[in-house]
Amino acid sequence: MQYNRVILYYFSGTGNARASAYWFAEVAHERNIDCEVIQLYRKTEVNPECIADEKKLFGFFFPTHGFNAAPAMLKFIWHFPRMKNTAVLLVNTRAGMKVSKLFAPGLSGLAQILPAIILIVKGFTVVGMQPMDLPSNWISIHPGLKEKVAESIFKRCERITKQFANRILDGGTKYKALISIPIDLAIIPISVGYYCFGRFFLAKTFISTKDCNGCAICETQCPVGAISMKQGRPFWSFNCESCMKCMNNCPTKAIQTAHLYNFILWYLILAIIPSLGFWVLFEKQCLELIENEWLASNLLSVILYTISLPAVALAYRVLHFATRWKWIDDFDKYTSLTSYWFWRRYKYGLKLFRKEGVK
Ligand SMILES: Cc1cc2nc3c(=O)[nH]c(=O)nc-3n(C[C@H](O)[C@H](O)[C@H](O)COP(=O)(O)O)c2cc1C
Repeated sequence: MQYNRVILYYFSGTGNARASAYWFAEVAHERNIDCEVIQLYRKTEVNPECIADEKKLFGFFFPTHGFNAAPAMLKFIWHFPRMKNTAVLLVNTRAGMKVSKLFAPGLSGLAQILPAIILIVKGFTVVGMQPMDLPSNWISIHPGLKEKVAESIFKRCERITKQFANRILDGGTKYKALISIPIDLAIIPISVGYYCFGRFFLAKTFISTKDCNGCAICETQCPVGAISMKQGRPFWSFNCESCMKCMNNCPTKAIQTAHLYNFILWYLILAIIPSLGFWVLFEKQCLELIENEWLASNLLSVILYTISLPAVALAYRVLHFATRWKWIDDFDKYTSLTSYWFWRRYKYGLKLFRKEGVK
Protein backbone atom coordinates (compact mmCIF):
# COMPACT_ATOMS: atom_id res chain seq x y z
CA MET A 1 0.00 0.00 0.00
CA GLN A 2 1.37 3.42 -0.94
CA TYR A 3 0.02 6.16 1.31
CA ASN A 4 -0.49 9.66 -0.05
CA ARG A 5 -1.61 11.30 3.19
CA VAL A 6 -0.41 10.73 6.76
CA ILE A 7 -2.04 12.34 9.81
CA LEU A 8 -0.24 11.90 13.11
CA TYR A 9 -1.86 12.83 16.43
CA TYR A 10 0.25 13.06 19.55
CA PHE A 11 -0.31 13.67 23.22
CA SER A 12 2.84 14.38 25.18
CA GLY A 13 3.81 15.60 28.62
CA THR A 14 7.56 16.08 28.31
CA GLY A 15 8.12 15.83 24.56
CA ASN A 16 8.98 12.15 24.09
CA ALA A 17 5.84 11.22 22.15
CA ARG A 18 6.11 14.51 20.26
CA ALA A 19 9.68 13.67 19.18
CA SER A 20 8.57 10.22 17.94
CA ALA A 21 5.74 11.76 15.90
CA TYR A 22 8.08 14.33 14.30
CA TRP A 23 10.71 11.67 13.50
CA PHE A 24 8.02 9.66 11.72
CA ALA A 25 6.90 12.82 9.88
CA GLU A 26 10.49 13.49 8.76
CA VAL A 27 10.56 10.12 7.01
CA ALA A 28 7.19 10.79 5.38
CA HIS A 29 8.40 14.21 4.14
CA GLU A 30 11.61 12.67 2.73
CA ARG A 31 9.34 10.45 0.68
CA ASN A 32 7.27 13.45 -0.44
CA ILE A 33 4.22 12.17 1.37
CA ASP A 34 1.82 14.82 2.61
CA CYS A 35 2.11 14.50 6.40
CA GLU A 36 0.56 16.53 9.19
CA VAL A 37 1.42 16.35 12.90
CA ILE A 38 -1.34 17.41 15.30
CA GLN A 39 -0.95 17.97 19.03
CA LEU A 40 -3.75 16.95 21.37
CA TYR A 41 -4.12 19.98 23.56
CA ARG A 42 -7.19 20.40 25.77
CA LYS A 43 -10.16 19.73 23.47
CA THR A 44 -8.64 18.90 20.09
CA GLU A 45 -11.33 18.45 17.47
CA VAL A 46 -11.02 15.58 15.04
CA ASN A 47 -9.69 16.89 11.73
CA PRO A 48 -12.59 17.26 9.23
CA GLU A 49 -10.43 15.37 6.70
CA CYS A 50 -10.85 12.31 8.85
CA ILE A 51 -12.78 10.21 6.41
CA ALA A 52 -12.05 6.67 5.37
CA ASP A 53 -9.53 6.34 2.58
CA GLU A 54 -7.34 3.38 1.68
CA LYS A 55 -4.43 5.71 0.89
CA LYS A 56 -4.57 7.50 4.22
CA LEU A 57 -2.59 6.52 7.29
CA PHE A 58 -3.41 7.69 10.80
CA GLY A 59 -0.93 7.53 13.67
CA PHE A 60 -1.38 7.96 17.42
CA PHE A 61 1.66 8.75 19.58
CA PHE A 62 1.29 8.92 23.35
CA PRO A 63 3.03 8.16 26.66
CA THR A 64 2.29 5.10 28.75
CA HIS A 65 0.72 6.04 32.08
CA GLY A 66 0.14 3.36 34.71
CA PHE A 67 0.48 0.53 32.16
CA ASN A 68 -2.13 2.08 29.92
CA ALA A 69 -2.39 4.71 27.20
CA ALA A 70 -2.48 8.27 28.57
CA PRO A 71 -6.20 8.86 29.36
CA ALA A 72 -6.41 11.97 27.09
CA MET A 73 -5.33 9.87 24.10
CA LEU A 74 -7.56 6.97 25.05
CA LYS A 75 -10.56 9.32 25.17
CA PHE A 76 -9.57 10.83 21.79
CA ILE A 77 -9.30 7.39 20.18
CA TRP A 78 -12.61 6.36 21.76
CA HIS A 79 -14.35 9.36 20.09
CA PHE A 80 -12.48 9.01 16.80
CA PRO A 81 -14.79 8.38 13.81
CA ARG A 82 -15.29 4.85 12.53
CA MET A 83 -13.42 4.14 9.31
CA LYS A 84 -13.40 0.96 7.24
CA ASN A 85 -10.20 -0.19 5.49
CA THR A 86 -8.13 2.71 6.74
CA ALA A 87 -4.65 2.10 8.11
CA VAL A 88 -3.62 3.17 11.58
CA LEU A 89 -0.51 2.83 13.73
CA LEU A 90 0.16 3.18 17.44
CA VAL A 91 3.36 4.30 19.15
CA ASN A 92 3.46 4.34 22.96
CA THR A 93 6.48 5.93 24.58
CA ARG A 94 7.62 4.21 27.76
CA ALA A 95 10.05 4.63 30.62
CA GLY A 96 13.38 3.83 29.04
CA MET A 97 16.51 3.76 31.17
CA LYS A 98 20.18 3.14 30.49
CA VAL A 99 22.16 1.05 32.93
CA SER A 100 25.85 1.16 32.05
CA LYS A 101 25.70 0.43 28.30
CA LEU A 102 22.44 -1.48 28.42
CA PHE A 103 19.15 0.08 27.39
CA ALA A 104 16.33 -1.03 29.70
CA PRO A 105 12.74 -1.05 28.39
CA GLY A 106 9.56 0.15 30.09
CA LEU A 107 6.32 -1.84 30.32
CA SER A 108 3.24 -1.22 28.17
CA GLY A 109 0.45 -3.17 29.91
CA LEU A 110 -2.74 -2.18 28.09
CA ALA A 111 -1.19 0.86 26.38
CA GLN A 112 -1.17 -0.78 22.97
CA ILE A 113 -3.77 -3.53 23.31
CA LEU A 114 -6.70 -1.36 24.40
CA PRO A 115 -6.38 1.38 21.72
CA ALA A 116 -5.78 -1.34 19.09
CA ILE A 117 -8.97 -3.17 20.08
CA ILE A 118 -10.99 0.08 20.00
CA LEU A 119 -9.63 0.96 16.55
CA ILE A 120 -10.22 -2.55 15.16
CA VAL A 121 -13.82 -2.43 16.40
CA LYS A 122 -14.15 0.93 14.61
CA GLY A 123 -13.14 -0.79 11.37
CA PHE A 124 -9.48 0.32 11.08
CA THR A 125 -6.63 -1.89 9.97
CA VAL A 126 -3.82 -1.67 12.52
CA VAL A 127 -0.56 -1.76 10.53
CA GLY A 128 1.93 -0.84 13.25
CA MET A 129 2.24 -1.25 17.02
CA GLN A 130 5.55 0.06 18.26
CA PRO A 131 6.67 0.75 21.85
CA MET A 132 9.38 3.40 22.15
CA ASP A 133 11.64 3.36 25.19
CA LEU A 134 12.44 7.05 25.60
CA PRO A 135 13.73 8.47 28.90
CA SER A 136 11.47 8.02 31.90
CA ASN A 137 9.96 11.37 32.86
CA TRP A 138 8.35 10.21 36.12
CA ILE A 139 10.40 12.43 38.37
CA SER A 140 8.02 12.01 41.30
CA ILE A 141 9.67 8.63 41.86
CA HIS A 142 13.22 9.12 40.56
CA PRO A 143 15.43 12.08 39.63
CA GLY A 144 15.43 13.04 35.95
CA LEU A 145 17.96 11.20 33.80
CA LYS A 146 21.25 12.95 33.09
CA GLU A 147 21.37 14.94 29.85
CA LYS A 148 24.00 12.63 28.30
CA VAL A 149 22.04 9.49 29.11
CA ALA A 150 18.85 11.05 27.73
CA GLU A 151 20.70 12.07 24.58
CA SER A 152 21.96 8.55 23.90
CA ILE A 153 18.48 7.05 24.53
CA PHE A 154 17.03 9.61 22.10
CA LYS A 155 19.58 8.74 19.41
CA ARG A 156 18.70 5.06 19.64
CA CYS A 157 14.95 5.75 19.55
CA GLU A 158 15.26 8.10 16.58
CA ARG A 159 16.88 5.27 14.63
CA ILE A 160 14.18 2.79 15.71
CA THR A 161 11.33 5.18 14.88
CA LYS A 162 12.75 5.92 11.45
CA GLN A 163 13.19 2.19 10.68
CA PHE A 164 9.60 1.64 11.79
CA ALA A 165 8.40 4.56 9.64
CA ASN A 166 10.22 3.27 6.56
CA ARG A 167 8.74 -0.19 7.01
CA ILE A 168 5.18 1.15 7.40
CA LEU A 169 5.50 3.68 4.56
CA ASP A 170 6.83 0.90 2.31
CA GLY A 171 3.42 -0.64 2.82
CA GLY A 172 4.56 -3.18 5.42
CA THR A 173 3.42 -3.98 8.93
CA LYS A 174 5.24 -4.18 12.25
CA TYR A 175 3.85 -5.39 15.58
CA LYS A 176 6.81 -5.12 17.94
CA ALA A 177 4.42 -4.37 20.83
CA LEU A 178 3.01 -7.90 20.69
CA ILE A 179 6.29 -9.45 21.91
CA SER A 180 5.54 -8.54 25.52
CA ILE A 181 1.88 -9.64 25.45
CA PRO A 182 2.16 -12.26 28.26
CA ILE A 183 3.58 -9.69 30.71
CA ASP A 184 1.20 -7.00 29.46
CA LEU A 185 -1.79 -9.24 30.13
CA ALA A 186 -0.47 -10.31 33.53
CA ILE A 187 -0.41 -6.70 34.78
CA ILE A 188 -3.95 -5.83 33.64
CA PRO A 189 -5.17 -5.54 37.28
CA ILE A 190 -2.57 -2.79 37.88
CA SER A 191 -3.55 -1.00 34.64
CA VAL A 192 -7.20 -1.05 35.66
CA GLY A 193 -6.41 0.02 39.24
CA TYR A 194 -4.32 2.92 37.98
CA TYR A 195 -6.97 4.03 35.49
CA CYS A 196 -9.87 3.85 37.95
CA PHE A 197 -8.13 5.10 41.12
CA GLY A 198 -4.36 5.59 41.06
CA ARG A 199 -4.26 8.51 38.64
CA PHE A 200 -6.72 10.53 40.75
CA PHE A 201 -4.61 10.08 43.87
CA LEU A 202 -1.48 11.08 41.94
CA ALA A 203 -3.20 14.22 40.66
CA LYS A 204 -3.26 15.49 44.24
CA THR A 205 0.41 14.93 45.02
CA PHE A 206 1.69 18.15 43.44
CA ILE A 207 2.30 21.36 45.30
CA SER A 208 4.11 24.58 44.59
CA THR A 209 6.35 26.12 47.21
CA LYS A 210 7.33 29.69 48.05
CA ASP A 211 9.71 29.64 45.05
CA CYS A 212 6.62 30.03 42.84
CA ASN A 213 6.55 33.49 41.23
CA GLY A 214 2.99 33.10 39.94
CA CYS A 215 4.05 33.14 36.27
CA ALA A 216 1.26 30.62 35.46
CA ILE A 217 3.28 28.86 32.74
CA CYS A 218 2.11 25.58 34.28
CA GLU A 219 -1.52 26.69 33.96
CA THR A 220 -1.32 27.86 30.35
CA GLN A 221 0.76 24.94 29.14
CA CYS A 222 -0.98 22.07 30.90
CA PRO A 223 -2.12 19.87 27.99
CA VAL A 224 -5.33 18.85 29.75
CA GLY A 225 -6.17 22.16 31.46
CA ALA A 226 -5.95 20.59 34.92
CA ILE A 227 -4.20 23.52 36.63
CA SER A 228 -5.79 26.74 37.82
CA MET A 229 -4.13 29.55 39.75
CA LYS A 230 -5.66 29.99 43.22
CA GLN A 231 -4.24 32.64 45.57
CA GLY A 232 -1.36 33.09 43.12
CA ARG A 233 -0.33 29.42 43.26
CA PRO A 234 -1.18 26.49 40.97
CA PHE A 235 -3.90 24.10 42.09
CA TRP A 236 -4.23 20.66 40.49
CA SER A 237 -7.67 19.22 39.75
CA PHE A 238 -8.55 15.55 39.33
CA ASN A 239 -8.20 16.08 35.54
CA CYS A 240 -4.43 16.03 35.99
CA GLU A 241 -2.84 13.06 34.21
CA SER A 242 0.52 13.42 35.98
CA CYS A 243 2.14 13.95 32.60
CA MET A 244 4.97 15.77 34.43
CA LYS A 245 5.06 18.75 32.10
CA CYS A 246 4.40 21.33 34.84
CA MET A 247 7.06 19.99 37.16
CA ASN A 248 9.77 19.55 34.55
CA ASN A 249 9.00 22.85 32.87
CA CYS A 250 8.69 25.17 35.90
CA PRO A 251 11.29 27.94 35.47
CA THR A 252 11.81 28.36 39.22
CA LYS A 253 11.70 24.64 40.12
CA ALA A 254 8.87 25.51 42.50
CA ILE A 255 6.66 22.50 41.72
CA GLN A 256 7.25 19.50 43.95
CA THR A 257 5.79 16.13 44.80
CA ALA A 258 4.84 16.40 48.45
CA HIS A 259 6.39 13.08 49.49
CA LEU A 260 6.05 13.02 53.26
CA TYR A 261 2.64 14.72 53.31
CA ASN A 262 1.29 12.19 50.79
CA PHE A 263 2.88 9.26 52.56
CA ILE A 264 1.05 10.20 55.77
CA LEU A 265 -2.20 10.98 53.96
CA TRP A 266 -2.20 7.79 51.90
CA TYR A 267 -1.37 5.73 54.95
CA LEU A 268 -4.35 7.20 56.78
CA ILE A 269 -6.73 7.02 53.87
CA LEU A 270 -5.69 3.79 52.18
CA ALA A 271 -4.75 1.73 55.20
CA ILE A 272 -6.41 2.98 58.36
CA ILE A 273 -9.82 4.12 57.07
CA PRO A 274 -10.51 0.94 55.01
CA SER A 275 -9.36 -1.24 57.92
CA LEU A 276 -11.75 0.60 60.23
CA GLY A 277 -14.48 0.22 57.61
CA PHE A 278 -13.92 -3.54 57.41
CA TRP A 279 -13.77 -3.88 61.17
CA VAL A 280 -17.06 -2.01 61.70
CA LEU A 281 -18.84 -3.99 58.99
CA PHE A 282 -17.55 -7.34 60.26
CA GLU A 283 -18.48 -6.41 63.81
CA LYS A 284 -21.98 -5.51 62.76
CA GLN A 285 -22.07 -8.69 60.65
CA CYS A 286 -23.18 -6.68 57.60
CA LEU A 287 -20.96 -8.71 55.28
CA GLU A 288 -22.72 -11.93 56.19
CA LEU A 289 -25.75 -10.65 54.32
CA ILE A 290 -23.77 -11.20 51.11
CA GLU A 291 -23.08 -14.91 50.76
CA ASN A 292 -20.04 -14.73 48.49
CA GLU A 293 -17.21 -13.59 50.77
CA TRP A 294 -14.80 -12.81 47.90
CA LEU A 295 -17.41 -10.63 46.16
CA ALA A 296 -18.34 -8.92 49.42
CA SER A 297 -14.81 -7.90 50.33
CA ASN A 298 -13.97 -6.73 46.79
CA LEU A 299 -17.17 -4.74 46.58
CA LEU A 300 -16.38 -3.17 49.90
CA SER A 301 -12.81 -2.31 48.84
CA VAL A 302 -14.09 -0.52 45.73
CA ILE A 303 -16.65 1.42 47.79
CA LEU A 304 -14.10 2.38 50.44
CA TYR A 305 -11.45 3.48 47.95
CA THR A 306 -14.05 5.51 46.07
CA ILE A 307 -15.01 7.23 49.32
CA SER A 308 -11.29 7.88 49.90
CA LEU A 309 -11.06 10.15 46.87
CA PRO A 310 -13.20 13.00 48.28
CA ALA A 311 -11.13 12.72 51.48
CA VAL A 312 -7.91 13.18 49.46
CA ALA A 313 -9.46 16.15 47.65
CA LEU A 314 -10.50 17.79 50.90
CA ALA A 315 -7.07 17.28 52.49
CA TYR A 316 -5.47 18.73 49.36
CA ARG A 317 -7.60 21.88 49.56
CA VAL A 318 -6.64 22.31 53.19
CA LEU A 319 -2.96 21.89 52.33
CA HIS A 320 -3.20 24.40 49.47
CA PHE A 321 -4.83 26.91 51.78
CA ALA A 322 -2.31 26.28 54.56
CA THR A 323 0.76 26.95 52.38
CA ARG A 324 0.18 30.67 53.04
CA TRP A 325 1.82 30.00 56.44
CA LYS A 326 5.58 29.94 56.09
CA TRP A 327 6.18 26.97 58.39
CA ILE A 328 3.73 24.79 56.43
CA ASP A 329 5.33 25.95 53.19
CA ASP A 330 8.76 25.06 54.54
CA PHE A 331 7.53 21.69 55.79
CA ASP A 332 6.15 20.93 52.31
CA LYS A 333 9.34 21.97 50.62
CA TYR A 334 11.87 20.23 52.85
CA THR A 335 9.92 16.97 53.07
CA SER A 336 9.69 16.74 49.27
CA LEU A 337 12.65 14.86 47.82
CA THR A 338 12.06 16.65 44.53
CA SER A 339 13.07 20.00 46.06
CA TYR A 340 16.67 18.96 46.74
CA TRP A 341 19.53 19.97 44.43
CA PHE A 342 20.35 16.38 43.46
CA TRP A 343 16.81 15.72 42.17
CA ARG A 344 17.16 16.65 38.51
CA ARG A 345 14.31 17.72 36.25
CA TYR A 346 13.83 15.95 32.92
CA LYS A 347 14.23 18.59 30.20
CA TYR A 348 15.65 16.83 27.17
CA GLY A 349 12.38 15.91 25.42
CA LEU A 350 10.82 19.30 26.18
CA LYS A 351 13.59 21.09 24.26
CA LEU A 352 13.30 19.06 21.05
CA PHE A 353 10.86 19.98 18.30
CA ARG A 354 9.56 22.93 20.32
CA LYS A 355 8.08 24.66 17.33
CA GLU A 356 5.84 27.63 17.04
CA GLY A 357 2.29 26.67 17.83
CA VAL A 358 3.45 23.70 19.91
CA LYS A 359 2.81 24.46 23.56
C1 LIG B 1 2.38 8.99 35.99
C2 LIG B 1 3.29 8.24 35.06
C3 LIG B 1 3.06 6.88 34.82
C4 LIG B 1 3.92 6.18 33.97
N1 LIG B 1 3.68 4.85 33.75
C5 LIG B 1 4.50 4.16 32.94
C6 LIG B 1 4.25 2.79 32.68
O1 LIG B 1 3.29 2.19 33.14
N2 LIG B 1 5.12 2.13 31.87
C7 LIG B 1 6.20 2.75 31.30
O2 LIG B 1 6.96 2.09 30.59
N3 LIG B 1 6.42 4.06 31.50
C8 LIG B 1 5.61 4.79 32.30
N4 LIG B 1 5.83 6.12 32.51
C9 LIG B 1 6.94 6.80 31.80
C10 LIG B 1 6.46 7.56 30.57
O3 LIG B 1 5.51 6.82 29.85
C11 LIG B 1 7.64 7.86 29.63
O4 LIG B 1 8.63 8.59 30.28
C12 LIG B 1 7.18 8.55 28.37
O5 LIG B 1 8.22 8.43 27.43
C13 LIG B 1 6.87 10.03 28.55
O6 LIG B 1 6.42 10.55 27.31
P1 LIG B 1 6.07 12.09 27.09
O7 LIG B 1 7.35 12.87 27.28
O8 LIG B 1 5.59 12.16 25.67
O9 LIG B 1 5.01 12.47 28.05
C14 LIG B 1 5.01 6.84 33.34
C15 LIG B 1 5.22 8.20 33.58
C16 LIG B 1 4.38 8.89 34.42
C17 LIG B 1 4.63 10.34 34.66
